Amino acid sequence: MIKSIIKGTGKFVPPNVVTNKDLEKIMDTSDEWIQQRTGIKQRHWISEENPMGASDLGFEAAKQALDAAGWAPEDLDFIIFATLSPDIMFPGSGCLLAAKLGLNSTPTLDIRQQCTGFLYGFATADAYIKTGLAKKVLLVGGEVHSSGLDKSTRGRDVTVIFGDGAAAVCIEGVETQKNAGLLASALHADGNYADSLTTELPASRLFKRNPDGISHDDPRYFPIMAGSTIFKKAVRLLPKVTNEVLEKAGIGLDQIDLVVPHQANKRINQAFGQYLKFEDDKIFHNIEKYGNTTAASIPLAFHEAMEQGRIGKSGQTVLFVALGAGLTWGACVYRFL
Ligand code: UT7
Repeated sequence: MIKSIIKGTGKFVPPNVVTNKDLEKIMDTSDEWIQQRTGIKQRHWISEENPMGASDLGFEAAKQALDAAGWAPEDLDFIIFATLSPDIMFPGSGCLLAAKLGLNSTPTLDIRQQCTGFLYGFATADAYIKTGLAKKVLLVGGEVHSSGLDKSTRGRDVTVIFGDGAAAVCIEGVETQKNAGLLASALHADGNYADSLTTELPASRLFKRNPDGISHDDPRYFPIMAGSTIFKKAVRLLPKVTNEVLEKAGIGLDQIDLVVPHQANKRINQAFGQYLKFEDDKIFHNIEKYGNTTAASIPLAFHEAMEQGRIGKSGQTVLFVALGAGLTWGACVYRFL
């Protein structure tokens, strides 16, 4: 049977580091509040001197992943780009990335599923592979949040959380009898909670998508979040979708070697572990360095977990799990070949 196997990973964050102390200088916040409530110590933001788009970050991550897989860009037969912060309104960042890779006919697909973009992307790659539509897929998660955040005190609850970054994985369809690769995925969405985490403008549903008479400073141009609503949803739904995906995969939690969750808030991931009675040292955290990089956060954490030797041996099993804007939530179980 054909299985979807990860052949290489890569990551890139812009060099400009913004610490909590730096944020104290521009808004009413504190290093103590941010660390206590979220676990974040710093994040990477693009700089005014060196602006970059999601596809620029994705390009650097993709080159590393392709190198690790030993693939040339021409080997790819499908590119999936997950982002909520595309370089421009259209065309999609996948098209821009493909051009940067020197490609001129490889199909690309952008996914707008926010924090679960990697999970939706992996499940989509797997479906393409298993139906024979593709054999070698590049999946990228890339975000530039910082150019669209409210950096005044008004936006502090959201702004301190988000960081810029990208990560990529190369996924190949491999013929094997082993129970390996993407064992199962479970995906969900509930648009009734769309307003809980959203950026309203520009909006094509308006007669003028950039309405007259409002300033660039209008709160509708910035992300707003009902933080505690999302927090409560996450603490309830992440364990639930974990049980669902484990059942689909036909394995127990005791067979998971490492959980690589979305990095939205360290307290959410700790609560997840406590609820499922899963040891915290088997839950990977890197939010302290990058903040919440949305579609990039799971592949970025996965890349670092592999780099640190926390996961990657044949037969080891990893659980990816996330919840975010949409609302969307989901989980994937992946076993190394
Ligand atoms: O990845 C996408 C999905 N997103 C998430 O999963 C995020 C889920 N939510 C959260 O992580 C948390 O709700 C936050 C970290 C966003 C907020 O933490 P919280 O413990 O829920 O705080 P809160 O919103 O209840 O605010 C508590 C206090 C408020 O002040 P008062 O009303 O008690 O006086 C806020 O105004 O903290 C204040 N506050 C801040 N203070 C300093 C909010 N943001 C900040 C800030 N610095 N950055």
